[in-house]
Amino acid sequence: MTPVLLDCDPGHDDAVAMLYAARHLDLRAITTVYGNQTLEKVTRNALALCRLARLDAPVAAGAAKPLLGEGPKDVTIHGKTGIDGAELPEPDRAPLDIHAVELILRTARAHRGELVLAATGALTNVALALSTEPKLKDWLRAITIMGGSTGIGNSTEVAEFNIHVDPEAADMVLRAGVPTWVVGLDVTRRVGVTAEQIASLREGGRLARTMADLLDFFLDSLRRVHGLNTASLHDPCALVPFIDPGLIEYRHTSVRVELAGTLTRGMTVAELRRLGSTQLGHIRPSAAPNVHLAREPSPRLVPHILAAIREMDVRAT
Ligand code: BDR
Ligand code: CA
Repeated sequence: MTPVLLDCDPGHDDAVAMLYAARHLDLRAITTVYGNQTLEKVTRNALALCRLARLDAPVAAGAAKPLLGEGPKDVTIHGKTGIDGAELPEPDRAPLDIHAVELILRTARAHRGELVLAATGALTNVALALSTEPKLKDWLRAITIMGGSTGIGNSTEVAEFNIHVDPEAADMVLRAGVPTWVVGLDVTRRVGVTAEQIASLREGGRLARTMADLLDFFLDSLRRVHGLNTASLHDPCALVPFIDPGLIEYRHTSVRVELAGTLTRGMTVAELRRLGSTQLGHIRPSAAPNVHLAREPSPRLVPHILAAIREMDVRAT
Protein backbone atom coordinates (compact mmCIF):
# COMPACT_ATOMS: atom_id res chain seq x y z
CA MET A 1 0.00 0.00 0.00
CA THR A 2 1.21 3.49 -0.83
CA PRO A 3 2.47 5.36 2.25
CA VAL A 4 0.96 8.83 2.49
CA LEU A 5 1.35 11.81 4.81
CA LEU A 6 -1.63 14.16 4.88
CA ASP A 7 -0.89 17.82 5.57
CA CYS A 8 -4.27 19.41 6.22
CA ASP A 9 -6.47 22.00 7.98
CA PRO A 10 -9.65 20.13 8.97
CA GLY A 11 -12.02 21.42 7.70
CA HIS A 12 -15.03 19.40 6.49
CA ASP A 13 -13.52 18.17 3.23
CA ASP A 14 -10.14 17.61 4.93
CA ALA A 15 -12.02 15.25 7.26
CA VAL A 16 -13.28 13.34 4.24
CA ALA A 17 -9.72 13.24 2.89
CA MET A 18 -8.50 11.71 6.18
CA LEU A 19 -11.03 8.89 5.87
CA TYR A 20 -10.40 8.36 2.14
CA ALA A 21 -6.64 8.16 2.77
CA ALA A 22 -7.07 5.78 5.70
CA ARG A 23 -9.34 3.50 3.65
CA HIS A 24 -7.19 3.19 0.53
CA LEU A 25 -3.64 4.17 1.45
CA ASP A 26 -1.16 3.57 4.24
CA LEU A 27 -1.78 6.77 6.23
CA ARG A 28 1.58 7.16 8.00
CA ALA A 29 1.14 10.62 9.53
CA ILE A 30 -1.04 13.72 9.68
CA THR A 31 0.34 17.25 9.93
CA THR A 32 -1.74 20.36 10.43
CA VAL A 33 -1.51 23.90 9.15
CA TYR A 34 -3.58 27.05 9.93
CA GLY A 35 -6.20 27.86 7.30
CA ASN A 36 -9.83 26.85 7.69
CA GLN A 37 -9.37 27.92 11.33
CA THR A 38 -6.47 28.63 13.68
CA LEU A 39 -3.71 26.05 13.97
CA GLU A 40 -4.92 25.16 17.45
CA LYS A 41 -8.47 24.46 16.28
CA VAL A 42 -7.59 22.48 13.15
CA THR A 43 -5.13 20.36 15.15
CA ARG A 44 -7.77 19.63 17.72
CA ASN A 45 -10.18 18.71 14.92
CA ALA A 46 -7.65 16.32 13.39
CA LEU A 47 -7.16 14.58 16.74
CA ALA A 48 -10.92 14.41 17.41
CA LEU A 49 -11.49 12.87 13.97
CA CYS A 50 -8.72 10.34 14.63
CA ARG A 51 -10.50 9.28 17.78
CA LEU A 52 -13.90 9.09 16.06
CA ALA A 53 -12.57 7.05 13.13
CA ARG A 54 -10.03 5.10 15.22
CA LEU A 55 -7.04 6.30 13.22
CA ASP A 56 -3.70 5.87 14.92
CA ALA A 57 -1.53 7.97 12.59
CA PRO A 58 0.71 10.36 14.55
CA VAL A 59 -0.40 14.01 14.38
CA ALA A 60 1.94 17.04 14.55
CA ALA A 61 1.02 20.70 14.37
CA GLY A 62 2.90 22.98 12.00
CA ALA A 63 2.73 26.57 10.85
CA ALA A 64 0.34 29.00 12.53
CA LYS A 65 0.67 31.60 9.77
CA PRO A 66 1.93 32.01 6.20
CA LEU A 67 5.55 32.71 5.22
CA LEU A 68 4.62 36.39 4.83
CA GLY A 69 1.88 38.24 6.67
CA GLU A 70 -0.64 37.08 9.19
CA GLY A 71 -2.95 34.74 7.30
CA PRO A 72 -6.68 34.47 6.83
CA LYS A 73 -9.19 36.08 9.17
CA ASP A 74 -12.87 35.25 9.57
CA VAL A 75 -13.06 32.12 7.43
CA THR A 76 -16.77 31.37 7.69
CA ILE A 77 -17.25 28.40 5.38
CA HIS A 78 -16.20 25.82 8.01
CA GLY A 79 -17.71 27.63 11.03
CA LYS A 80 -16.26 28.80 14.32
CA THR A 81 -14.60 25.51 15.22
CA GLY A 82 -13.31 24.92 11.69
CA ILE A 83 -15.58 21.87 11.51
CA ASP A 84 -19.03 22.99 12.69
CA GLY A 85 -22.13 20.84 12.30
CA ALA A 86 -21.47 17.89 14.61
CA GLU A 87 -20.28 17.22 18.13
CA LEU A 88 -16.89 15.53 17.78
CA PRO A 89 -15.44 13.50 20.66
CA GLU A 90 -12.78 15.09 22.87
CA PRO A 91 -9.36 14.12 21.50
CA ASP A 92 -7.86 11.23 23.47
CA ARG A 93 -4.26 12.18 22.69
CA ALA A 94 -2.13 15.27 22.27
CA PRO A 95 -0.24 16.15 19.08
CA LEU A 96 3.38 14.97 19.01
CA ASP A 97 5.86 17.23 20.69
CA ILE A 98 7.60 18.00 17.37
CA HIS A 99 6.85 20.47 14.58
CA ALA A 100 5.01 19.22 11.47
CA VAL A 101 8.16 19.90 9.42
CA GLU A 102 10.07 17.41 11.58
CA LEU A 103 7.33 14.78 11.17
CA ILE A 104 7.30 15.32 7.40
CA LEU A 105 11.08 14.86 7.26
CA ARG A 106 11.12 11.78 9.52
CA THR A 107 8.30 10.11 7.58
CA ALA A 108 9.85 10.88 4.19
CA ARG A 109 13.26 9.63 5.38
CA ALA A 110 11.69 6.39 6.63
CA HIS A 111 9.85 5.81 3.31
CA ARG A 112 12.44 7.10 0.86
CA GLY A 113 11.23 7.08 -2.74
CA GLU A 114 7.79 5.88 -1.66
CA LEU A 115 6.07 8.56 0.39
CA VAL A 116 3.29 10.62 -1.18
CA LEU A 117 2.89 13.98 0.53
CA ALA A 118 -0.73 15.08 0.15
CA ALA A 119 -1.42 18.72 0.96
CA THR A 120 -5.00 19.90 1.39
CA GLY A 121 -4.38 23.22 3.10
CA ALA A 122 -1.99 26.16 2.68
CA LEU A 123 1.42 24.98 1.48
CA THR A 124 3.38 26.61 4.31
CA ASN A 125 4.49 23.39 6.06
CA VAL A 126 5.48 21.76 2.77
CA ALA A 127 7.51 24.80 1.68
CA LEU A 128 9.21 24.98 5.09
CA ALA A 129 10.06 21.27 4.96
CA LEU A 130 11.52 21.55 1.44
CA SER A 131 13.67 24.52 2.44
CA THR A 132 14.78 22.97 5.75
CA GLU A 133 16.00 19.74 4.13
CA PRO A 134 17.04 20.03 0.46
CA LYS A 135 17.18 16.21 0.24
CA LEU A 136 13.43 15.99 0.87
CA LYS A 137 12.69 16.48 -2.80
CA ASP A 138 14.57 13.28 -3.61
CA TRP A 139 12.99 11.32 -0.77
CA LEU A 140 9.41 12.00 -1.88
CA ARG A 141 7.69 9.91 -4.53
CA ALA A 142 5.24 12.76 -5.14
CA ILE A 143 3.46 15.78 -3.80
CA THR A 144 -0.25 15.99 -4.49
CA ILE A 145 -2.12 19.18 -3.83
CA MET A 146 -5.68 20.49 -3.64
CA GLY A 147 -5.29 24.10 -4.65
CA GLY A 148 -5.64 26.71 -7.35
CA SER A 149 -8.12 27.01 -10.17
CA THR A 150 -8.10 27.38 -13.92
CA GLY A 151 -11.37 29.27 -13.67
CA ILE A 152 -12.95 31.36 -10.97
CA GLY A 153 -11.60 31.48 -7.43
CA ASN A 154 -13.25 31.28 -4.04
CA SER A 155 -10.96 33.60 -1.99
CA THR A 156 -10.96 36.25 -4.72
CA GLU A 157 -12.41 36.36 -8.22
CA VAL A 158 -9.42 34.39 -9.50
CA ALA A 159 -7.61 32.91 -6.48
CA GLU A 160 -8.41 29.70 -4.64
CA PHE A 161 -8.13 29.67 -0.84
CA ASN A 162 -5.22 27.22 -0.24
CA ILE A 163 -2.96 29.06 -2.69
CA HIS A 164 -4.21 32.55 -1.87
CA VAL A 165 -3.41 32.28 1.86
CA ASP A 166 0.28 31.58 1.17
CA PRO A 167 1.22 32.23 -2.47
CA GLU A 168 4.97 32.34 -1.69
CA ALA A 169 4.82 28.84 -0.19
CA ALA A 170 2.79 27.55 -3.14
CA ASP A 171 5.31 29.06 -5.56
CA MET A 172 8.21 27.34 -3.75
CA VAL A 173 6.45 23.98 -3.79
CA LEU A 174 5.49 24.14 -7.47
CA ARG A 175 9.09 24.99 -8.37
CA ALA A 176 10.69 22.35 -6.16
CA GLY A 177 11.15 19.74 -8.88
CA VAL A 178 9.22 16.99 -7.09
CA PRO A 179 6.74 15.06 -9.28
CA THR A 180 3.58 17.02 -8.45
CA TRP A 181 -0.16 16.54 -8.97
CA VAL A 182 -2.54 19.48 -8.61
CA VAL A 183 -6.31 19.42 -8.47
CA GLY A 184 -8.00 22.80 -8.52
CA LEU A 185 -11.36 24.26 -7.68
CA ASP A 186 -12.51 24.08 -11.31
CA VAL A 187 -12.44 20.27 -10.95
CA THR A 188 -13.28 19.79 -7.25
CA ARG A 189 -16.47 21.86 -7.52
CA ARG A 190 -17.64 19.17 -9.94
CA VAL A 191 -17.07 16.54 -7.23
CA GLY A 192 -19.94 17.44 -4.93
CA VAL A 193 -22.37 15.46 -2.78
CA THR A 194 -26.07 16.21 -2.95
CA ALA A 195 -28.42 16.55 0.03
CA GLU A 196 -29.87 13.12 -0.90
CA GLN A 197 -26.45 11.46 -0.89
CA ILE A 198 -25.73 13.03 2.50
CA ALA A 199 -29.08 11.77 3.83
CA SER A 200 -28.22 8.23 2.75
CA LEU A 201 -25.01 8.36 4.84
CA ARG A 202 -27.22 8.72 7.91
CA GLU A 203 -28.27 5.10 7.64
CA GLY A 204 -24.83 4.08 8.91
CA GLY A 205 -23.20 4.08 12.35
CA ARG A 206 -21.76 6.92 14.42
CA LEU A 207 -18.94 7.90 12.07
CA ALA A 208 -21.21 7.94 9.00
CA ARG A 209 -23.87 9.92 10.86
CA THR A 210 -21.30 12.45 12.07
CA MET A 211 -19.95 12.84 8.55
CA ALA A 212 -23.52 13.40 7.32
CA ASP A 213 -24.03 16.17 9.90
CA LEU A 214 -20.72 17.76 8.92
CA LEU A 215 -21.49 17.60 5.21
CA ASP A 216 -24.95 19.08 5.80
CA PHE A 217 -23.32 22.08 7.49
CA PHE A 218 -20.77 22.37 4.67
CA LEU A 219 -23.44 22.19 1.97
CA ASP A 220 -25.42 24.87 3.74
CA SER A 221 -22.35 27.17 3.95
CA LEU A 222 -21.44 26.62 0.31
CA ARG A 223 -25.03 27.31 -0.71
CA ARG A 224 -25.15 30.56 1.30
CA VAL A 225 -21.70 31.86 0.42
CA HIS A 226 -21.13 30.58 -3.11
CA GLY A 227 -24.60 29.58 -4.32
CA LEU A 228 -23.59 25.92 -4.84
CA ASN A 229 -26.08 23.07 -4.67
CA THR A 230 -23.66 20.29 -3.74
CA ALA A 231 -21.02 20.02 -1.01
CA SER A 232 -17.68 20.04 -2.85
CA LEU A 233 -15.37 17.21 -1.81
CA HIS A 234 -12.30 19.28 -2.68
CA ASP A 235 -9.64 17.64 -0.53
CA PRO A 236 -10.13 13.90 -1.11
CA CYS A 237 -9.62 14.63 -4.84
CA ALA A 238 -5.92 15.20 -4.14
CA LEU A 239 -5.54 11.53 -3.17
CA VAL A 240 -7.17 10.13 -6.30
CA PRO A 241 -4.04 9.73 -8.49
CA PHE A 242 -2.64 7.32 -5.89
CA ILE A 243 -5.91 5.48 -5.21
CA ASP A 244 -7.44 5.05 -8.67
CA PRO A 245 -5.97 7.21 -11.44
CA GLY A 246 -9.01 6.42 -13.61
CA LEU A 247 -11.16 8.62 -11.38
CA ILE A 248 -9.63 11.95 -12.48
CA GLU A 249 -7.95 12.66 -15.80
CA TYR A 250 -4.73 14.71 -15.42
CA ARG A 251 -2.61 16.57 -17.99
CA HIS A 252 1.13 17.26 -17.73
CA THR A 253 1.62 21.01 -18.08
CA SER A 254 2.87 24.13 -16.32
CA VAL A 255 1.19 25.88 -13.41
CA ARG A 256 2.68 29.02 -11.89
CA VAL A 257 1.56 31.22 -9.03
CA GLU A 258 0.90 34.93 -9.41
CA LEU A 259 2.81 36.69 -6.61
CA ALA A 260 2.82 40.30 -7.69
CA GLY A 261 -0.52 41.09 -9.33
CA THR A 262 -2.47 43.93 -7.82
CA LEU A 263 -5.74 42.11 -8.57
CA THR A 264 -4.51 38.59 -9.14
CA ARG A 265 -2.18 37.70 -6.24
CA GLY A 266 -2.55 34.01 -5.39
CA MET A 267 -4.00 33.08 -8.78
CA THR A 268 -2.65 29.98 -10.50
CA VAL A 269 -1.70 30.42 -14.14
CA ALA A 270 -1.96 27.16 -16.09
CA GLU A 271 -0.81 26.44 -19.63
CA LEU A 272 -3.88 24.96 -21.28
CA ARG A 273 -3.46 26.22 -24.80
CA ARG A 274 -3.44 23.63 -27.55
CA LEU A 275 0.26 24.01 -28.25
CA GLY A 276 1.58 22.61 -31.46
CA SER A 277 -1.87 22.21 -33.04
CA THR A 278 -2.09 23.30 -36.67
CA GLN A 279 -4.05 26.41 -35.69
CA LEU A 280 -1.87 27.51 -32.80
CA GLY A 281 1.43 26.00 -33.89
CA HIS A 282 3.18 29.35 -33.53
CA ILE A 283 2.50 29.49 -29.77
CA ARG A 284 5.37 28.33 -27.63
CA PRO A 285 4.84 27.24 -24.01
CA SER A 286 5.81 29.97 -21.55
CA ALA A 287 7.21 27.49 -19.03
CA ALA A 288 8.27 23.85 -18.85
CA PRO A 289 5.66 21.39 -17.53
CA ASN A 290 5.99 21.18 -13.75
CA VAL A 291 2.77 19.47 -12.66
CA HIS A 292 0.09 16.98 -13.56
CA LEU A 293 -3.02 19.15 -13.55
CA ALA A 294 -6.48 17.67 -13.01
CA ARG A 295 -8.87 18.26 -15.89
CA GLU A 296 -11.84 15.88 -15.75
CA PRO A 297 -13.40 14.01 -12.81
CA SER A 298 -15.24 10.74 -13.39
CA PRO A 299 -18.91 10.39 -12.35
CA ARG A 300 -17.71 7.33 -10.38
CA LEU A 301 -15.68 9.52 -8.01
CA VAL A 302 -18.35 10.77 -5.56
CA PRO A 303 -19.80 7.26 -5.04
CA HIS A 304 -16.25 5.96 -4.52
CA ILE A 305 -15.56 8.52 -1.79
CA LEU A 306 -18.93 7.89 -0.11
CA ALA A 307 -18.25 4.15 -0.15
CA ALA A 308 -14.93 4.79 1.64
CA ILE A 309 -16.74 6.76 4.37
CA ARG A 310 -19.18 3.85 4.83
CA GLU A 311 -16.33 1.33 4.97
CA MET A 312 -14.47 3.41 7.55
CA ASP A 313 -17.71 3.63 9.53
CA VAL A 314 -17.97 -0.16 9.62
CA ARG A 315 -14.32 -0.42 10.70
CA ALA A 316 -14.86 2.11 13.51
CA THR A 317 -17.96 0.39 14.90
C1 BDR B 1 -9.98 24.45 -0.06
O1 BDR B 1 -10.17 25.47 0.93
C2 BDR B 1 -10.59 24.91 2.14
O2 BDR B 1 -11.65 25.65 2.67
C3 BDR B 1 -11.00 23.48 1.84
O3 BDR B 1 -10.72 22.64 2.95
C4 BDR B 1 -10.17 23.12 0.64
O4 BDR B 1 -8.91 22.61 1.02
C5 BDR B 1 -10.94 24.71 -1.20
O5 BDR B 1 -10.67 25.93 -1.79
CA1 CA C 1 -8.45 21.95 3.30
